[in-house]
Amino acid sequence: MTSPPRIPGRRLLHSPGPTPLPDAVLQAMSNQPMDLADPRVDANIAACELGLKRLLQTDRADVFMYAANGHGVWEAVVENLAAPGESLLVPGTGHFSESWAIQAEALGRQVLRTPWAPGWPIDADAVEQVLRDDRRHTIKAVLAVHTDTAGGVTSDIGALRRAIDAAQHPALLVADVVASLGAAPFAMDTLGVDVAVGASQKGLMCPPGLGFVAVNAVAFGVAERNPAPRFYWDWVRRKHDLSYRKFCGTPPQNMLLGLEAALGLIFAEGLDQVWQRHARLAGAVHAAVQGWRTGGALDFFGQQAASRSVSVTTITLGPGIDVEALRSVARERFQVAIAGGLGPLTGKAFRIGHLGDCNPAMILGAIGGVEAALLCLGVDVGEGGTRRAVASLAQG
Ligand SMILES: Cc1ncc(COP(=O)(O)O)c(C=O)c1O
Repeated sequence: MTSPPRIPGRRLLHSPGPTPLPDAVLQAMSNQPMDLADPRVDANIAACELGLKRLLQTDRADVFMYAANGHGVWEAVVENLAAPGESLLVPGTGHFSESWAIQAEALGRQVLRTPWAPGWPIDADAVEQVLRDDRRHTIKAVLAVHTDTAGGVTSDIGALRRAIDAAQHPALLVADVVASLGAAPFAMDTLGVDVAVGASQKGLMCPPGLGFVAVNAVAFGVAERNPAPRFYWDWVRRKHDLSYRKFCGTPPQNMLLGLEAALGLIFAEGLDQVWQRHARLAGAVHAAVQGWRTGGALDFFGQQAASRSVSVTTITLGPGIDVEALRSVARERFQVAIAGGLGPLTGKAFRIGHLGDCNPAMILGAIGGVEAALLCLGVDVGEGGTRRAVASLAQG
């Protein structure tokens, strides 16, 4: 079998997860595994737990990590917080809220939803109304996606806490920070979040395969009283000093070595600096879209500048433009990998990821590659995006 020709240089990965891996993470992961009694195993796990708490800005929550992707930790939330037949409220954010809702239904839970307005963040008033109407307090938790990676829209988690409190409802607040953690500010305790849910492959600059939850005492109490049968996902079983119990089996050591290295990079840069860098890079992508949209063929999916995500930008395309052809030309001819639309946006949008181990040169490369691919497909890019992105970065 002949191998494909070598591609010189690096292909830029601008999917909103998986994201590029820093060399320090790759190197840490290339260490040999250790025997489970080696004290370095526990030290590594402790460093990851501590680092995740620091990143989530919580002194009050316990962290439980899983050899699982985001869907795994979604399942952990459902199995620990509600028994079969009990209710959960999933505010509409688009593809990812709906996927979580469908998963909870498949697990036998009742799911209430608030409507999703395409391109808009969660409607906190609608959440408050559903909770007020639930006079018997049957809803166990509000499962909110902070940044919906499909639409590139970030919702106000603090507004949901206020909505729950205003309705005087005991429902827990659960935030999915899979796409926002390590990119956008998030302070679990200050926001009044009871459970935060994350995964390794986006802002955390690790490969896919490690999911985690941070659980405060109130949520842990709900889990303790929840009769739902469960084993692998069970937080009560995992709250233990032994690493074999913490992971319900062998810890995913090389993932954890990578995560410790990634957390070290984030804290060495500084959390504020990490957030500012993401805002600046997102600003450059948004500036490029402003240029492209003057051609009339492309536009932002996110309707409100303030709620457009710092992690990913979703760009809608006019009829007749083949998204998969665009992705293929961008990837194969210009070495820029971008993502397509998901759910209702399939075939109608593409997405540029700008999170994780990302810098201005990578962003300019991505924008230039996408613009070149658009031109190859004969799409009118109006004033173009590249100059605007350069100007945005030069200012910021
Ligand atoms: C916001 C959000 N939540 C959950 C998930 C599901 O994660 P996974 O694909 O790792 O199962 C994703 C995946 O992209 C996501 O973006």
